[in-house]
Amino acid sequence: MKALILSGGKGTRLRPLTYTGAKQLVPVANKPILWYGIERIVAAGITDIGIIISPETGAEVQAKTGDGDRFGARITYILQEQPAGLAHAVQIAQPFLEDAPFIMYLGDNLIQNNLDPFLDTFKAQNLDAMILLRPVANPSAFGVAKVDEKGRVLYLVEKPQVPPSNLALVGIYFFDRSIHHAIACIHPSKRGELEITDAIQCLIDQQKSVEACQLEGWWLDTGKKDDLLSANQIILDSYLVGSVQGQLDDQTQIIGRVEIGEGSKVVNSTIRGPAIIGRDCHIENCFIGPYSSIGDCSILIDADLEHSVILQGAQVVGIHQRIVDSLIGQRAQLTAAHRRPKALRFMIGDDCHVELT
Ligand code: G1P
Repeated sequence: MKALILSGGKGTRLRPLTYTGAKQLVPVANKPILWYGIERIVAAGITDIGIIISPETGAEVQAKTGDGDRFGARITYILQEQPAGLAHAVQIAQPFLEDAPFIMYLGDNLIQNNLDPFLDTFKAQNLDAMILLRPVANPSAFGVAKVDEKGRVLYLVEKPQVPPSNLALVGIYFFDRSIHHAIACIHPSKRGELEITDAIQCLIDQQKSVEACQLEGWWLDTGKKDDLLSANQIILDSYLVGSVQGQLDDQTQIIGRVEIGEGSKVVNSTIRGPAIIGRDCHIENCFIGPYSSIGDCSILIDADLEHSVILQGAQVVGIHQRIVDSLIGQRAQLTAAHRRPKALRFMIGDDCHVELT
């Protein structure tokens, strides 16, 4: 069994952050989203992993993630020159996948469950394909499946205007080698992509065994700001173990589960967990509230924030109004001269400068 993780694409829904970086590297609780997927796959016993990368962000993904050693895996990077669809990604990965069955995992998806039970079902039933489904309120934003009462998939449609059910396709798929023949039979969709939903539909039409499992735990497709903030909240809630390695002064108060990395300095501040602060940060006269993740080397002085993700090297200085529900890019600078009365809500890309005067 192998795994294919898709980490290409342009990440248009997370712009401006993704003008300068891969969406799969945006951190959740200070760890790139992509790494959660790799860890889940390795935890299920699969260590031979291919990662699809794009020309725009591939080098960054590769440099940060490495050859797989840190995960106990062997990673092969596969360049997809054009964002020509999920099925196209499988097609170009065939020399890596060979005839092995594999998990295809979309690198911006996060799920609560372990993969083992799904993998066991897929193997035990000798399926050609297995998909994971989750009821959602906005099925039109996803691939949607219609299933019969036994869980057999009747048909699939990608981002339908009139959805045949509320069951969205989670971005985790299990395939046997027959998917390669199915992909060879399909044509680009209206949006010009080889759709994996069309390839799975082709398997269904050929009477192959395609089953669906419903996902019970949470699932987050982190392609948008609010999804990313929810992911950050859930991960901090579920997994954060408090540990303070930085330096705190006597005026600083830590409440609840808080992680502070090596080399960070906290002065006259209150930090209420769950919250994580990376390495080599400087935090002074701040309130950092629950569900905040502050990346390495950030500087926060006279700031008040909660439920926000601050990326590496950002600076927030002199903002006395509470910052909430915000995503602030790497090295962005947010500074203010005067007090203002209302709450502020931001999505600020890498290298931006914002001054409130
Ligand atoms: C892709 C798939 C879609 C699936 C979704 C899950 O869409 O095409 O079928 O429901 O991932 O994350 P995308 O998020 O790339 O638009």
